[in-house]
Amino acid sequence: MLFKQQALLRQKLFVLGSLAIGSLLYLVARVGSLDRLQPLCPMDGRFGPRSQEEIPLRALQFKRGLLHEFRKGNATKEQIRLHNLVQQLPKAIIIGVRKGGTRALLEMLNLHPAVVKASQEIHFFDNDENYAKGIEWYRKKMPFSYPHQITIEKSPAYFITEEVPERIYKMNSSIKLLIIVREPTTRAISDYTQVLEGKERKNKTYYKFEKLAIDSNTCEVNTKYKAVRTSIYTKHLERWLKYFPIEQFHIVDGDRLITEPLPELQLVEKFLNLPPRISQYNLYFNATRGFYCLRFNIVFNKCLAGSKGRIHPEVDTSVVTKLRKFFHPFNQKFYQITGRTFNWP
Ligand code: A3P
Repeated sequence: MLFKQQALLRQKLFVLGSLAIGSLLYLVARVGSLDRLQPLCPMDGRFGPRSQEEIPLRALQFKRGLLHEFRKGNATKEQIRLHNLVQQLPKAIIIGVRKGGTRALLEMLNLHPAVVKASQEIHFFDNDENYAKGIEWYRKKMPFSYPHQITIEKSPAYFITEEVPERIYKMNSSIKLLIIVREPTTRAISDYTQVLEGKERKNKTYYKFEKLAIDSNTCEVNTKYKAVRTSIYTKHLERWLKYFPIEQFHIVDGDRLITEPLPELQLVEKFLNLPPRISQYNLYFNATRGFYCLRFNIVFNKCLAGSKGRIHPEVDTSVVTKLRKFFHPFNQKFYQITGRTFNWP
């Protein structure tokens, strides 16, 4: 009888032990890596040089779950106070360039546990009506974050809008500025494709790219066409340099971000003085989409919306050649100023 009871007890203990080990293994697998199981500790001085060991980061899992709820507005004031959550002005802004890959860059940086993105384009500095509402309005547009995290927003129109550099300077003269660029002719065609799609959605007709990009009177490149002007990166950058030294800018290669995102993101982490936390685990190539998608953990991953990665219309090769020739000297100047060279023709 006693022997039978002992055997039963042993059996129960075995089942309980297996359950505990199983749960632990599941937890480890779910967060993807042990790195994300680090204890929660505050961290400050985001932009000061610190060794990797010194910087404790919250679990991605924790950041995603809780912050997501707060961002959706599901938090009570008490919860916000309890978790010490704040709406902080951005420490870094992706100022452009439109169609350079600004959304992909923001979403990929948001994989970093110390980064919290503003989901919407705020258009504070380029829109007079918004700007007139004041800096507190801007701050209130920012997502909730922990004090040790940094907020990043992107509004690509900032790069080309005259008043923006001075306005950002007045807010924070030491802010970090990110510019993502693509080969200028491809970027211009991507810009055109976006506008074309908008017209088609409204059942409107639109000109061919060739007609817009080339002045029919002179047969030269039409510099009045916005998609062309936006791709003259050096002209816009020179305006910014009246307010900020070149060290405050980081240029991201948008073409490389498509084909090989990790090294580009690692350069940004370095520029922002963040410990390297985005890994190959967080990025996987989706053959159906033809782009890299984001993996937060074993259960949560996402690709960018279908509006990112449109099929471009065929453009007459002589027009492409003309545009590439036109951009060439501006590109050279851009390389010279930024110290970053691209394989653009
Ligand atoms: P195309 O639609 O011309 O391919 P932005 O976000 O600034 O509007 O830039 C859009 C561009 O981001 C897209 O241009 C696409 O090529 C590029 N991109 C870069 N990485 C991407 C990714 N992982 N998924 C989708 N698009 C990406």
